Amino acid sequence: MTIKFQLQGTDPLQKTTDCLVLGIWEKGGTPTLTAAVDKASDKLIDNVKRSGDIKGKAGDTLWLHIPGKLKAKRLLLVGCGEEKKFDARAYVKAARGAAKALLGSGAKNAIIALPQLPVKDRSEEWAVSQLVREIGATEYRYDQTKSRKADPISLKTVHIAAGSSRKSLKESVEVGACTANGMNTARELGNLPGNICTPTYLAHFASKLGTKHKNLKTQVLGEKQMQKLGMGSLLSVGHGSIEESKLIVIEHKGAKKADSKPYVLVGKGITFDTGGISLKPGAGMDEMKFDMCGAATVLGTMQAVAELNLPINVTAVIAAAENMPSDRATKPGDIVTSMSGQTIEVLNTDAEGRLVLCDALTYVERFKPKTVIDVATLTGAAVAAFGDVASVVLSNHQPLAEEILQTSQEAQDYAWQLPMWDEYQPLLDSNFADIANIGGPKAGTITAACFLSRFTDKYHWAHLDIAGSAWLSGAQKGATGRPVPLLLEYLRKQKA
Ligand code: BES
Ligand code: MN
Ligand code: ZN
Repeated sequence: MTIKFQLQGTDPLQKTTDCLVLGIWEKGGTPTLTAAVDKASDKLIDNVKRSGDIKGKAGDTLWLHIPGKLKAKRLLLVGCGEEKKFDARAYVKAARGAAKALLGSGAKNAIIALPQLPVKDRSEEWAVSQLVREIGATEYRYDQTKSRKADPISLKTVHIAAGSSRKSLKESVEVGACTANGMNTARELGNLPGNICTPTYLAHFASKLGTKHKNLKTQVLGEKQMQKLGMGSLLSVGHGSIEESKLIVIEHKGAKKADSKPYVLVGKGITFDTGGISLKPGAGMDEMKFDMCGAATVLGTMQAVAELNLPINVTAVIAAAENMPSDRATKPGDIVTSMSGQTIEVLNTDAEGRLVLCDALTYVERFKPKTVIDVATLTGAAVAAFGDVASVVLSNHQPLAEEILQTSQEAQDYAWQLPMWDEYQPLLDSNFADIANIGGPKAGTITAACFLSRFTDKYHWAHLDIAGSAWLSGAQKGATGRPVPLLLEYLRKQKA
């Protein structure tokens, strides 16, 4: 992120700035600072509201130029909805609206007073963190593969006018900035096309991350090494591709005790999913370049973990492969042997995510993890059920599922749980192997998780199906950077 944030202690009215950002209510009174500015400007704000030029719905914005009266060159009014209903959702909408308007303007600096408004069940620290995250995420532009680069951002410095202690707010600024940076890293990797972002590219990226941060160490296993480990399931997915499959391991050692057990993240890194021999239909297939968004969010989260130097150990494992049809590709009916020893009948080569993840999930047993969370664009059924709003949580340990759901609310990065009851397990029965890789047309997200659950007996595990939340389609096509906020917030809460 290029924008600098400063905490503003003194009266924002006394400071010269390109832009003063103030909240207004759709219904209710007038926020204190807004009222002070209104008074100093001959009821300008009151008159504008009365005129109906801005209603004050959460996220509405209106620019006002007020020569002479104030030290601010202009005002940005930001609608915050109804005062009585001002909750985390409304706050984020307002912050996002403000960020969009500010970054779309020529302002070089600004004072933002939004975190002063009391958000239901949230602290001022939270509000500052969210604001910084929204500004950082709004700053993101994809231009790596365009010959015309994005215009540089004019906004250089943002002063945040908030009342709480400097020290705790300083940490909130850092958390918000690192969350945005992590999301933007995940988005950039997600948005890169399949011919650039290959398993080898992801491995290089992870290695660079490892050299950049002194508490991170990266190790990359190639196909030969995976063969030695017996990862027949993972390897079967990349068999049809000219790109070498990779297992990427990143360790963050932040705990005081070096041998403190790690929290483990596992990411699905299918850098392109054609479906393999069970070829996908052509329409919209380009979006399967996003099938490595699990890996991308894990990398973005590890970057943030390292930047914040969290006082815990975290290990990330990414299973990266390209799913292609060819004369060497795995065929429907082929049987592969996983690292766990369980044999798998590959009834559909398009159910490849679980095939790479299961070996990664067996591999991480060696770390004796405190918890394991895998992140994967695993099923179209998750998109059908939740659209792009929620990531789906399934878990073999209900307290872990509940902690993730709770955290998703706090981080405003929504997730919802589906059950993983035993009744679903028989759908994976195979006549020819220990387990089939598909469970038929019903309950697709659940049977995919049930498949993974066969490889996670040794630890507490949660699965995040992010097929809906990881990217947007249509005109706004692009990776979202989710669920980096959720994962980072979860890790921030953990103890060594
Ligand atoms: N990467 C896809 C899941 C996906 C599909 C995500 C569409 C987002 C949009 C995954 O590898 C896949 O193909 N899953 C199949 C599984 C099926 C064959 C059991 C699916 O969901 O259709
Ligand atoms: Mn697939
Ligand atoms: Zn896939």
